[in-house]
Amino acid sequence: MTKIILSGAFGRMGRAVTAAAIERGDIAIAAGIDPVGGAAEFSLYAGPEAIPAECAADAIIDFSHHTALPELLAFAIARNLPIVVATTGHDEQELAAMHAAAKKIPVFYSRNMSLGINLLIDLCRRASLALGTGFDVEIIERHHNRKLDAPSGTALMLADAIAETREETEYVYDRHTVRRQRDPSEIGIHAVRGGTIVGEHEVMFAGRDEVITLSHSAASREVFATGALAAAHWLPGKPAGLYAMQDLIKEL
Ligand SMILES: NC(=O)c1ccc[n+]([C@@H]2O[C@H](COP(=O)([O-])OP(=O)(O)OC[C@H]3O[C@@H](n4cnc5c(N)ncnc54)[C@H](O)[C@@H]3O)[C@@H](O)[C@H]2O)c1
Repeated sequence: MTKIILSGAFGRMGRAVTAAAIERGDIAIAAGIDPVGGAAEFSLYAGPEAIPAECAADAIIDFSHHTALPELLAFAIARNLPIVVATTGHDEQELAAMHAAAKKIPVFYSRNMSLGINLLIDLCRRASLALGTGFDVEIIERHHNRKLDAPSGTALMLADAIAETREETEYVYDRHTVRRQRDPSEIGIHAVRGGTIVGEHEVMFAGRDEVITLSHSAASREVFATGALAAAHWLPGKPAGLYAMQDLIKEL
């Protein structure tokens, strides 16, 4: 049985992870961290520092808030625990802290834990290589009206994968603030917020007289919870380093 410490235990994703762990049967939540209290089938703590040393765990899953990361990484290093970082919206300092931590412990980081999205990323990379710069790339993401960060971490993952295949790229978010013709090096990134949409990502390669669209739609949060649990099951025992979904998929 793999034992998990779940950060953001009472959030939408925290609850989805708890439900998916029960369904799997081989992962148990040893403790939860969330400043919001409530009834839970595991011990709940307001912060990692409150978790007693005798609380045995094999890995941490973080689906909380980006500001929680430095403290959580310090805890993970102190307890020598691998960590799955699923939270998005980190600033440069937080990302630097994650890279530094990965020198000491295994850190799994994916701004999208779904297997389907990770396949979409691979398809976009291949499409960009095949189509070249003669096709304009625009990414449109849609999420529920409670999402805090924009654009989504996944939209940026898609943009980054395409950017890796090109010599020069510029991400353009606010087309309404500039009055100029589109440059071929641009990747337009657009965020739509509304209702209960779990997550939709569309990547458009628009060429002369033809358009190729690759898209993914998540119907429930379960896909992210399933991926995060798979990562937490896979990570213990790996050497220190920064891992991503592609590393896990390679071993499936
Ligand atoms: N990587 C992925 O596949 C993926 C998928 C969905 C959501 N997310 C990300 O996961 C995060 C959580 O999403 P959500 O929809 O569950 O949000 P949510 O707002 O429903 O839940 C966040 C929870 O974290 C708690 N929290 C806040 N600060 C905390 C702290 N310092 N320590 C511990 N807990 C803290 C909140 O009280 C809340 O219960 C967001 O960053 C979101 O973008 C990632």
